[in-house]
Amino acid sequence: MKLALIGFGRVGRAFARLLHAQRAAYPFRITGILTARHGAAVDERGLDPDPVLRLPSPSLEEFLDRSKAEVMVEVTPLDPLTGEPAISHIRAAFARRMHVVTANKGPIAHAWQALKREAEAAGVQFRFEATVMDGAPVFNLVRYSLPAVRILGFTGVLNSTTTVVIEAMERGCTLEEGVEQARRLGITEADARYDLDGWDAAAKTAALANVLMDANVTPLQIPTKGIARLTPERLAELNRKGKTVRLVSRARRTARGISLRVRAEVLPRTDPLALARGTSNLLLLRTDLMRTVGVLSLEPGVEQTAYGLFSDVVAIAREA
Ligand SMILES: NC(=O)c1ccc[n+]([C@@H]2O[C@H](COP(=O)([O-])OP(=O)(O)OC[C@H]3O[C@@H](n4cnc5c(N)ncnc54)[C@H](OP(=O)(O)O)[C@@H]3O)[C@@H](O)[C@H]2O)c1
Repeated sequence: MKLALIGFGRVGRAFARLLHAQRAAYPFRITGILTARHGAAVDERGLDPDPVLRLPSPSLEEFLDRSKAEVMVEVTPLDPLTGEPAISHIRAAFARRMHVVTANKGPIAHAWQALKREAEAAGVQFRFEATVMDGAPVFNLVRYSLPAVRILGFTGVLNSTTTVVIEAMERGCTLEEGVEQARRLGITEADARYDLDGWDAAAKTAALANVLMDANVTPLQIPTKGIARLTPERLAELNRKGKTVRLVSRARRTARGISLRVRAEVLPRTDPLALARGTSNLLLLRTDLMRTVGVLSLEPGVEQTAYGLFSDVVAIAREA
């Protein structure tokens, strides 16, 4: 199967390396790579995992046509306020009857219902397992392993940059030093304020609520309070009382609809949510038939995000 990558940063490159390593068992070919400022490469016979990109980049439409790909892999940066330009990229792929896989949560946080309908109308698949918990299955867990289950709510620690920054401040570093440590791990959004102010977590919360609970919300509608006002002194004081802080996403069905929020919460160190350390993510799904089930991903990195994309491409190859 032929793949076209839109974006070739940390995730795109890790994905290309993973495909290369798995090529004997999974003969997928990257036939096109497009970036914003670093040029593009197209070769129908399949590109190297580290190809030479040439300027100028063609338009997205011309690029997709030339790549002759069956699947577009969208890995451009998140804009949590609009979901663009990824939403337009995805529509351009649907218009060419290409399946789409993305690690960018913006599109499902802003336009899930519409994109789902458009994918169905085009007869293609739209998959996004890597958007919320890197490679750990969340959407596929519900889709394949929890038939008939109704999701009543969820609680999660879904943004790892804030956890890394909190832990750095607990060791006496400044917030800025903590952000630098997270950046070195390759986990921060292009604009780290989106992590600190809770926008990334709000986008993940909207994505989960839209897909798993039919919420039809955007991140702009979710009351969100990030960690920007936390200080090392406040964390040291909480530490002495056996407490810590995590950026927590919460969702629950109420009589008036679905209530959502993202907030830096003070937690006892014994709280299950405090288990999320370093880059780890944790999600607890509250359900009707299965009570509460959870997914914990310990210290995932960019390779696990790449795996999330890979698992989606494999699913498309199986079902297409
Ligand atoms: N990093 C992680 O751990 C992680 C985990 C889960 C999900 N994600 C999601 O994965 C996506 C990619 O993250 P990343 O860390 O790989 O980002 P990144 O390192 O900043 O790379 C982004 C890539 O997208 C390209 N790009 C930007 N705008 C474009 C446009 N309009 N058209 C074509 N290409 C464009 C950039 O090109 P230039 O370099 O030329 O500007 C770059 O190659 C994001 O949506 C992020 O939220 C990341």
